[in-house]
Amino acid sequence: MEHRITKKYSYFIAIALISVLGSCYYDNESELYPTNNYPTVNVSYATNVNPIIVSSCNSCHSTSAKFGNIITDTYLDLKKIVDNGKFIGSIKHNSGFIAMPQSSAKLNTAQITMVEAWIAEGAKNN
Ligand code: HEC
Repeated sequence: MEHRITKKYSYFIAIALISVLGSCYYDNESELYPTNNYPTVNVSYATNVNPIIVSSCNSCHSTSAKFGNIITDTYLDLKKIVDNGKFIGSIKHNSGFIAMPQSSAKLNTAQITMVEAWIAEGAKNN
């Protein structure tokens, strides 16, 4: 009787361990391969690009706070600096452009690559 209980208990522990390890593996994978979060095909403005703009740009470039007369919080205003090259020039810190986001870290390579892919695909409002 006691033996059966122990056996049952060990199955339970095994299943618990598998689910814990399973979730650890998933977490590690997304940390090891962060580019998975930044697609380079079928990039969506709403899902992929805009969240970066919201967290890195809109505090200084909204309709109400438009530093440098630049607005990034609407698609149409963002599209203007996409089309004149200032958006990519500023986030890549290219010479001849003012480096953005101002006074904080450059966007990471995966984010910049994704933004370039979105532009190459037509910078659609998708
Ligand atoms: C902390 C405030 C701040 C943040 C955050 C910020 N900017 Fe700016 N941005 C400015 C200011 C101020 C200027 C005007 C600088 C000047 O004219 O000297 C400017 C200017 C610009 C310009 C014009 C650059 C040029 O070469 O003419 C672009 C484009 C721009 N920002 C894009 C962005 C983008 C894209 C982001 C997010 C990745 C961003 N900014 C984040 C403050 C900010």
